[in-house]
Amino acid sequence: MRIDVVSIFPAFFDVLEVSLLGKARGAGLLDIRVHDLREHTHDRHRTVDDTPYGGGAGMVMKPEPWGEALDAITADAGERPVFVFPSPAGERFTQAQAREMAQLPHLVFGCGRYEGIDERVFSYAATLGDVRLVSLGDYVLNGGEVAAMAMIEAIGRLVPGVVGNPASLVEESHEDGLLEYPSYTKPSSWRGYDVPPVLLSGNHGAIAGWRREQQIERTRERRPDLLPD
Ligand code: ADE
Repeated sequence: MRIDVVSIFPAFFDVLEVSLLGKARGAGLLDIRVHDLREHTHDRHRTVDDTPYGGGAGMVMKPEPWGEALDAITADAGERPVFVFPSPAGERFTQAQAREMAQLPHLVFGCGRYEGIDERVFSYAATLGDVRLVSLGDYVLNGGEVAAMAMIEAIGRLVPGVVGNPASLVEESHEDGLLEYPSYTKPSSWRGYDVPPVLLSGNHGAIAGWRREQQIERTRERRPDLLPD
């Protein structure tokens, strides 16, 4: 899978060189290319923003550098990519979306800063591929970089081969609509806290039943919004 990222802070994405995704890049499973938006400016100050038409607080990212950056990325891409613009004004990012995006051959993340990107950039991007504005949650970050990082990790780990044991992807929070069950490892007793005896019983049916109950109980307590009415 190919992932391009456009940002005025490409250094944010240096961490993609470590851990699981770093390994996946080394193995050629993920082709991640990070681009500095300022490379597509042509003035001495490498300007990427300007004041908003109609007035208001903050600055808006200018369309011209974005147009050039998207042109450069799509010039050597075979298929039409899906453009993901992280935005608090976007649709909510979910595990289902991560699963769907992990099937795609080419994603382009456009990271906005300031009050956002000139709206015409989204219209132009729609001529080059599908466009999605996606929010990580109901809170505001300083820009799209951290949100893009989170989405790249959520999507990248679902690309076949990236996580060594695919079974570990199945029994996770959100994969079956519930939060995951609690996990324990050795020792069975630690500082007076004991592992629930059912997990030591060797009774696989009883263990599966207990885990399911725990999932439902936790979900009811912490995320009742996930349960059907
Ligand atoms: N940019 C700023 N806030 C954001 C959020 N909550 N989700 C995605 N992108 C953002």
